[in-house]
Amino acid sequence: MAQSVTFPQDRTCPYHPPAAYGPLREAGPMARVTLYDGRTAWSVTEHATARALLVDQRLSTDTTHQGFPALTERFAVVRRSRPPALLGFDDPEHNAQRRKLIPSFSVRRIAELRPRIQAVVDQLLDAMVQQGPPADLVSAFALPVPSMIICELLGVPYADHDFFEEQSRRLLRGPAPSDSEEARERLRDYLGDLVERKRREPGDGLLDDLIAQQLADGGFDREEMVDMASILLIAGHETTANMISLGTFTLLQHPQQLDDLRSDTSLLPAAVEELMRFLSIADGMVRVATEDIEVGGGVIRAGDGVVFPTSIINRDAGAYASPDELDWHRPARHHVAFGFGIHQCLGQNLARTEMEIALGALVRRFPGLRLAVPAAAVPFKPGDTIQGMIELPVEW
Ligand code: HEM
Repeated sequence: MAQSVTFPQDRTCPYHPPAAYGPLREAGPMARVTLYDGRTAWSVTEHATARALLVDQRLSTDTTHQGFPALTERFAVVRRSRPPALLGFDDPEHNAQRRKLIPSFSVRRIAELRPRIQAVVDQLLDAMVQQGPPADLVSAFALPVPSMIICELLGVPYADHDFFEEQSRRLLRGPAPSDSEEARERLRDYLGDLVERKRREPGDGLLDDLIAQQLADGGFDREEMVDMASILLIAGHETTANMISLGTFTLLQHPQQLDDLRSDTSLLPAAVEELMRFLSIADGMVRVATEDIEVGGGVIRAGDGVVFPTSIINRDAGAYASPDELDWHRPARHHVAFGFGIHQCLGQNLARTEMEIALGALVRRFPGLRLAVPAAAVPFKPGDTIQGMIELPVEW
């Protein structure tokens, strides 16, 4: 078994797993890792084992459990004081929450949003062209696309985006744990006020629907509604923004694959799936064992923490041939970049559609798209948060 590796660590290249995870890759199916607070946890790195464990009810997402592994001090503070909606609960509570949201994120409902997503994408790219090169693709495009769409879907005023994007950034990346906690509270206050306002003056977003449902059959209480709105607003813009920015950076570093995509845009859905696998931006799902679980000769004991480094799992050579290559023609769909099991990403249909439309428009409209600074100078996010670019200076 490999020596205990520190987890999480920063990536050396923004689209490859951290070089320091090398021993974890060799160890499979699981290895010990050391967390920021000196505690140890299991890391599961083999694809088949990860999929089996992610549906195992003996692994819990209860963030208030004593053994729950915190990947940073920030998350230890924020999650123990108040578990996030959905992700912080096991079934049956989790299912009761998720059931109410599923219809709004179905394939059909999201397909209906396509024209609107296309219009937002076109409008932002028109503005970028009008402004002229260079541009920061994160602030001009990658962030506003999902941010505008999740606002419309939820019924949150986009005019407030500077505020909630900033709180979301502080919540996820600090700098200090106290910043994250304060940001979470400011966001909850904001969404609490919004829910009150919507009770008086109903609109036509998902939050309005949930409020109407609550009035009709006593669904969520106010605090639950605010927790739900928080996770949807944060997960709804941060993650996809990172995929668009890191996805674009990765395409620019892989000119052959970019050319292939440009000459055959019917490859886009497959390319989105392969980019999800290759980039694995949510690189560390966390669980705690509530009972002993035997795995490949080892035993995860009740109370042990378990982490799932998706960047390693999704590059398991037993599941994907030449896993470190970006290949639009491989079947990539069984990756775990959206998670797996009961907590598998609720917004995955929306995220896929946004990525497909956003990357498709970029590829079609900007044949000369290139970095405006050397690749090594483009800043990317640290390993203890969702991976992505902080800025992406481009010209065309
Ligand atoms: C490319 C973008 C995205 C990525 C990579 C991503 C990744 C993930 C992952 C890995 C999980 C599972 C976490 C775990 O099991 O511990 C998850 C869950 C979740 N995601 Fe996403 N996500 C993305 C986009 C979105 C969007 C657009 C939304 C909302 C509109 C969203 C809402 C959620 C919610 C609510 C959960 C919790 C589901 C549950 O516990 O039942 N995500 N996501």
